[in-house]
Amino acid sequence: MTDTAVVPPDVLTAVRTKHRALWALGDYPMLAAEVIPGLGPVLVEAAGVRPGDSVLDVAAGSGNAAIPAALAGARVIASDLTPELFDAGRAAAAAVGAELTWAEADAHALPFDDGAFDTVLSCVGVMFAPFHQTAADELLRVTRPGGTIALIAWTPAGFIGQMFATMKPYAPAPPPGAEPPPLWGDEAHVRTLFGDGVTDVRAEVRSLPVTRFASGAEFRDFFKALYGPTIAVYRNVADDAARTAELDAALLDLATRFQDADGAMGWEYLLLTATRR
Ligand SMILES: C[S@@+](CC[C@H](N)C(=O)[O-])C[C@H]1O[C@@H](n2cnc3c(N)ncnc32)[C@H](O)[C@@H]1O
Repeated sequence: MTDTAVVPPDVLTAVRTKHRALWALGDYPMLAAEVIPGLGPVLVEAAGVRPGDSVLDVAAGSGNAAIPAALAGARVIASDLTPELFDAGRAAAAAVGAELTWAEADAHALPFDDGAFDTVLSCVGVMFAPFHQTAADELLRVTRPGGTIALIAWTPAGFIGQMFATMKPYAPAPPPGAEPPPLWGDEAHVRTLFGDGVTDVRAEVRSLPVTRFASGAEFRDFFKALYGPTIAVYRNVADDAARTAELDAALLDLATRFQDADGAMGWEYLLLTATRR
């Protein structure tokens, strides 16, 4: 493990407030259910979750990975900074007969004991905690020796990584010391974060087929209405019609470049598993 990074408490508090409000915007649970429901089961399978395992899903949202882990027979805590997402998660779990616990928790300061979990998962989740070393140290801390850490993160070069790069010039300034989310999709970065806290790192770049959007405009308008980070960026330029039109055009162009003639896309992600030393 590398040295624990120290983020000033007032900076962490401000980030928590801002990011919780951001992820509560729009309708993230609907987006997850309609666009990326395939990712959670992929992560649960890669992690080798077994009946009876104690599993923590970090930045679980509405349970995309936590619910399939519970269906696999594990004892699961779905934790997230944004408890506004839990009602949808509870409804989704009830609909498939999954039982799990929901807990409000910041990935930078997990309210769980050292070594409490056999498996710690995060599906395009912990990547959004901006202080990467602090969050990585927390994942290591709560995983028992010999336990598994399994992550999915959008890559920098893939579609969602490029969407964040496209939005960056229009976004509010990040807090000091923040690192960009798609860096968690870079294997070398994650290996550095975990350092010698893990062994047996396995990493694979995969692509999620996305057929939800018939056109670039449909993609852009869906994200503009439902996805917190995109909504927040549009709000940041809301009083500047020219900048808003520029952002509209940039997102349309990006989506169109990634779509084939039928509108299908592949969203690239890193799937990484490791054993806690
Ligand atoms: C893209 S969503 C992924 C949710 C879920 N894992 C899924 O696959 O649908 C990102 C999630 O990260 C959560 N999040 C952002 N910052 C966080 C933090 N510092 N600690 C814990 N969760 C955080 C958000 O509330 C949101 O639910």
